[in-house]
Amino acid sequence: MRLFPLLVLILIGGGEALELKLPAPQLRGDLSLEEVLSHRRSVRSFRKEGLTLKEISQLLWAAQGITDPRGFRTAPSAGALYPLEVYLVVGKAEGLGSGVYHYLPKGHKLVKVKEGDVRSALCRAALGQPWVGEAPVVFCIAAEYERTTAKYGPRGIRYVHLEAGHAAQNLCLQAVSLGLGSVTVGAFGDQEVQRILGLPQRHRPLYLIPVGKRR
Ligand SMILES: Cc1cc2nc3c(=O)[nH]c(=O)nc-3n(C[C@H](O)[C@H](O)[C@H](O)COP(=O)(O)O)c2cc1C
Repeated sequence: MRLFPLLVLILIGGGEALELKLPAPQLRGDLSLEEVLSHRRSVRSFRKEGLTLKEISQLLWAAQGITDPRGFRTAPSAGALYPLEVYLVVGKAEGLGSGVYHYLPKGHKLVKVKEGDVRSALCRAALGQPWVGEAPVVFCIAAEYERTTAKYGPRGIRYVHLEAGHAAQNLCLQAVSLGLGSVTVGAFGDQEVQRILGLPQRHRPLYLIPVGKRR
């Protein structure tokens, strides 16, 4: 196993799961919010090179990172119940082997949940959209609806979808700020994606977001 300078690998549970501590996010960028907003565009063609661990860390933090000692995050959440779960499909990245990872906002960590490159299967599950298979990494925003519907009833479903939009927009704007491209993909088979990523039944995939260096 290779060790990376920015990565602390901690074996837990008798070696079954690997927790990867991510580099701390940067709180300053090169572009103004207005520049980022005006440059955001769906990007569907990516260079082959992988993302760095710093870029991945920053994108995950933008989507769901904790920004307050009380546990509040970068994106608002109805009742602060935080129903979203972010997964990362890695095809090519510096410092991360190919596989599927689960983001843990607490501690800003990743846990590997599946080995191997699943991008081709994911591309097929997304009606063959090539950018899903070609991007070096694909983020998946999933949700556990019950966390929110337990308090808000059926209206909680709306809240969860609104929250997925907040998180996705944060991620896409962060991508622009890093000089990366992204596209939000809603057209896919839910059960196929759930199976390919190995998500628990209660985590329902809502959005796929391929990200890469722009061509
Ligand atoms: C809910 C939602 C679902 C989308 N699904 C897809 C998709 O499956 N595939 C895709 O290529 N783009 C998808 N898009 C991106 C839109 O096509 C894109 O935002 C639109 O064409 C406007 O272009 P822009 O994002 O560059 O402003 C989706 C966007 C949203 C908001």
